[in-house]
Amino acid sequence: MAVRTIITEGDPRLRQKALRIRTVDDEVRQLARDLWDTVREARGLGLAAPQIGVLRRIIVVSIPPDYAEEGDPGVELTLINPEIVRASGRQVGLEGCLSIPGWYGEVPRFMHVTVKALDLDGREIRVKGSGLLARVLQHEIDHLDGILFVDRIEDRSTLRYIPDEDEEEATSAEAAAS
Ligand code: NI
Repeated sequence: MAVRTIITEGDPRLRQKALRIRTVDDEVRQLARDLWDTVREARGLGLAAPQIGVLRRIIVVSIPPDYAEEGDPGVELTLINPEIVRASGRQVGLEGCLSIPGWYGEVPRFMHVTVKALDLDGREIRVKGSGLLARVLQHEIDHLDGILFVDRIEDRSTLRYIPDEDEEEATSAEAAAS
């Protein structure tokens, strides 16, 4: 188990383009395990490798059951070289980032996306997501291109600081820190 340090805004590695993974080998699988250990410890909804300072194209998505809506089964995904191949609709919702702790803002995103990626066995997979899952997928894939959610905010007045002790407010607003 290796919980890694999550780097924060200002670190130049968050602004770089991550490299494609050529071979899904044990090193990549170890990196995935580290991402999982780190996202669970941070209780994030997702994490991208650049957030632990590794410039490779791999993300994890971890949406707990009942998070967005009562009865939701939850989602756990590890995606290598993820790429959005279809996108439609629009949603605007509160979003946060483990690399910009405490800050939240209203971010416009596609409502539905289809993502093509490799799984941990190197097989090509497709994932369809709507609503919160679509939001987290877009947020994490942005990290692979050096884009942060604050770059996507249209209305800067929605950007606000919600301290840790008010985490309830953040989660009740379905904020996605990832
Ligand atoms: Ni983030």
